[in-house]
Amino acid sequence: MVKSCIFAGSFDPITNGHIMLIKEACLMFDVVYVAVLNNIAKKYMFSTEKRVEMAKSATANIKNASVVSTDGLLTDLMKELEVGVIVKGVRNTNDFILEQQMAFVNKKLLPNANTILLMANDDMQNVSSTVVRELIIYGADYSDYVPSGVLKIIQKGNTE
Ligand code: PNS
Repeated sequence: MVKSCIFAGSFDPITNGHIMLIKEACLMFDVVYVAVLNNIAKKYMFSTEKRVEMAKSATANIKNASVVSTDGLLTDLMKELEVGVIVKGVRNTNDFILEQQMAFVNKKLLPNANTILLMANDDMQNVSSTVVRELIIYGADYSDYVPSGVLKIIQKGNTE
């Protein structure tokens, strides 16, 4: 039986922290769907199409990762893909509280859904999409925080 999971997030943009955790998930699962989703509470810097493009570029060399996207509910996508496990990354207790709430909601929507939380590595504690967006806005260097392909996509977008 193929073991699959869904690594869900906004990925606005996808960071080296996300990639590290996706690689860890890929060691545990045969297929890891990287799902680019929308949180209606957030105003995104990048369109869904751009976020998908960046996620595809960043995972191109990870052979069991596959990028998917929907405007709808994560649990509906899980039903469609026949996946029962959600994998999320947490850096600290703030992340944990948010993820715990989402895990409860998802379990209510899809009772077979289970969420696994992976702990971000020490050196990724300060890597977040929020920090990257802030550095982009201030024109500061964020090249240590995102994969090189993602950097190129962002820079191309900024000069077009
Ligand atoms: O990276 P984020 O912003 O913490 O990811 C949150 C996200 C986008 C995964 C979450 O908001 C989500 O699952 N959105 C899809 C809509 C949905 O299913 N909402 C109910 C679950 S709380």
